[in-house]
Parts: sequence; C-alpha cells; structure tokens
Amino acid sequence: MDHAALRPMVSRRASGPLSGTIAVPGDKSISHRALMFGALAVGETRITGLLTGEDVLRTAAAMRALGAEVTCDPDGVWRVAGRGVGGLTEPADVLDMGNSGTAARLLCGILASHPIFSIMTGDASMRRRPMRRVIDPLTLAGARFASRAGGLLPLAIEGAPDALPLDYRVPVPSAQVKSAVLLAGLNARGITRVEEPEATRDHTENMLRHFGATVHVEIAGGGRIITLHGQPELRAADVAVPGDPSSAAFPLVAALLVPGSSVTIPSVGLNPLRTGLLLTLEEMGAAVTIVNRRVEGGEPVGDLVVSGTALRGVDVPPGRAPTMIDEYPILAVAASGATGVTRMRGLKELRVKESDRLAATAALLSGNGIRVEIDGDDLIVHGTGGTVPGGGLVETHMDHRIAMAALVLGVNSEQPVRVDDASFIDTSFPGFVALMTGLGATIADV
Ligand code: S3P
Repeated sequence: MDHAALRPMVSRRASGPLSGTIAVPGDKSISHRALMFGALAVGETRITGLLTGEDVLRTAAAMRALGAEVTCDPDGVWRVAGRGVGGLTEPADVLDMGNSGTAARLLCGILASHPIFSIMTGDASMRRRPMRRVIDPLTLAGARFASRAGGLLPLAIEGAPDALPLDYRVPVPSAQVKSAVLLAGLNARGITRVEEPEATRDHTENMLRHFGATVHVEIAGGGRIITLHGQPELRAADVAVPGDPSSAAFPLVAALLVPGSSVTIPSVGLNPLRTGLLLTLEEMGAAVTIVNRRVEGGEPVGDLVVSGTALRGVDVPPGRAPTMIDEYPILAVAASGATGVTRMRGLKELRVKESDRLAATAALLSGNGIRVEIDGDDLIVHGTGGTVPGGGLVETHMDHRIAMAALVLGVNSEQPVRVDDASFIDTSFPGFVALMTGLGATIADV
C-alpha cells in the first residue's frame, strides 16, 4: 500500500445517542496465525472471517512468496494449500511486512528454521521497531541475521539447516517473541521450551494444537511454561476467525461516552488473555453485557451489548497490561470522559508499538484540552466527568490505533478533533469510518 497520500479526517461531537449493531472485522492476531499455520500444514486450510486489513494481506503475500498457495473465494473464504513443516521455499524478492510487527516477528521465527535466505523489510514505522527481541533467541537456534544498526529492519536472514530447539525465557511480556520461538521450534528436532514471566495472548499455542502439534502449557506463577514437540506433521485445519476485541474496543468506548447510546457488537473474541479492557471498563462502572457466549473455532466468543454510561476513574495494575496491551489509547479516551483520575501502570511496552504509544496517547489527550501526565511508565488521565474540550489536531505517527482513538474522542468533544492521517486505520479495521458513521458518529474527510 502506498502511503504517500495522507488522509486527514475530522470527528465531531455526536448529535445524539449512538445506536445500532456493528460487526467488527476478524481478529488480527488469529488471522496472521491462520495463514501462517495453513502454509506450514499439509493439505488445504479454509479460513472464514479472516481480517482483510493491510497487515494480514502482507502475511498472505509473504506466504505466497514462500511457496504456499493462498487464494480467496468470491464468498470471502480463504484457502491455503500448505507446504508442510520445513517445506517453505526461498522467496524471489524482499518480503515487505508493511506496518505489521506481528507479521514481521512471527515470520522471523518461521524463517529461522528453514534453510533458505530471505530479506525482510517494512514501512517507516516498522523500520523503527525493535527486532533484536527475536533476533537474539533465533540466533541461538542457529539462524544468522544481518540487520541495520540497533537490530532494525531491513534484515537479511539465513535460516538454520538443522535448527536447535530452544529453552528460552522471554525477557519482555510479548506474545510475538514467544510465538517466534515456538514457530522456529516447529522445525527443530526435539523439545522447545519457552518460559514467559507474564501470560500473554495464547493464540499460537491454541492454533498449534488445532493443527495437530503436541503442546503443553504449565501455569507458573503469573506466567507460563510452554513446551512444543518439534517436527510434527501439521494437518490442515479449518479456522473460524472471531471478531477482534481490539477493534471492538473503539465503537464500545464511543457508545459508553455518548449518553443514551445502545450498541451491539456481535461475535467478539473473548479469549481471557485479551479481555483486560472489558474488566477495566467494568471497574469503571461501564454498562457492558456479554450475551450468547459460545466457543467458535476453539476460541470463546460472545456478543457485546453496551449502553452510554457515566464512568469513574480507576487504577489499572501493571499486571493487566499483557491482556489489554493494544487498548490503552482507547482506554485513555474513555478515562478522559470519566469522573476522577485514571492511572494506567506499567506501560513500558507501549513505547515500541506502531508508534511510541505512551507519548502519542498523552499528546492526543493534552492537545484536546485534557489534563494528562506520564510518570515513569504510567499514564495518568484526569477525567472531565462529561464532554472534553477537543479542538486539537492529532498526529497519528502511522499508528492505526492512535487514529481511531482520536476519532472516538471527537464524538465526546465540544470542538471537533482532527487527525493528520487516518489512512493507517486500514491496517487493522477496514470500514471503521463507515461503521462508526452508521452508528451515528460524525466522522468525515477534510
Ligand atoms: C500481538 C501481540 C502484541 C500486540 C500485537 C499483536 C500478536 O504484541 O501488541 O498487536 O498477535 O502476537 P507484543 O506481543 O509484542 O506485545
């Protein structure tokens, strides 16, 4: 995608309550993994509900470049004809992962244990994000990496012909790093063991099992120890991708902020390692009900029914961060309309997302007349208990979630909130603006 064209947009205070039903796109984490596992399995994997945002399309293109057949039927069902574990072939050109850290890091894991040469790059945001966190363990497995100074993309990767299974303690709470090590372990002889001090999203572990690998997970304090038996024959397995809770968060908070609103968001993924925002909003007094709970494709899902509610500020403990890591910008927006102070603790990892999200979230709020502080790794928001002043121009720094959070802030602002560039929203939530305006929000190009 060429991002030469900026897309400035403006969001104005909603003229009345938001109402309706909004189906959010498929889960981004699960979509990337479904394509990758499909490519590593023998046979044809069919995927329904796949997110067709830019990030996931990058993964689809990379899997094709590595020899898998990836197609989409006219009815939206995706098919992946896999090459089997260890069966991917050398790409003829550079793999461009665009804006996606998940695609880049998980793919490094796969490439590390394939005896092929590849070069990986990404967009300007991605080329600033740390890759050392995967280069370090994958080098121990026998892969060789050459990178720009500081471990930045582009990377040249020479996969190990006979990768070693790792016994690795993940130094940062990161599902991407954990997953990269497990994916490398798929084509290593013996048992790969990964220890994570704090539990992070477990979609990789779930999908490994779904495709027939032997995986054991042991709860160890607040964290987990995962063991994987290497070189299984993965069998193609159909995947039904649930709605993305991280995307649902935006219309959810918009509805909470506008009095009298009533919005339903069906089929949202409710994996317990993804629901920290729902727990926090509940503590803030939010009227969110989960109905029709069920299990689809191995993941818990439910329909969210949300009403406009007066929220109160809360103290969010650092241990909750891995279960809501992508939700802090929109939680900060919710906190701006709450009564009292919200303190979000332990947000170090936010500094290395699509942008420095700690700084970008603080700037988003302060530029719109809301009192906000960064104290070490904590973000402190002083809520207004109602509407916020607004009137700011938010710099989105190539970050989809900063753009969406800012546009949601606008629905509760006295003065319009503008963003410099909303184009990156398409990386995770194509159709966001149309769906939001369908609920009654006033969001438009400028
Ligand atoms: C993801 C993990 C998270 C999250 C990202 C998706 C994944 O990153 O921020 O949007 O699919 O594994 P980290 O694991 O690096 O925190």
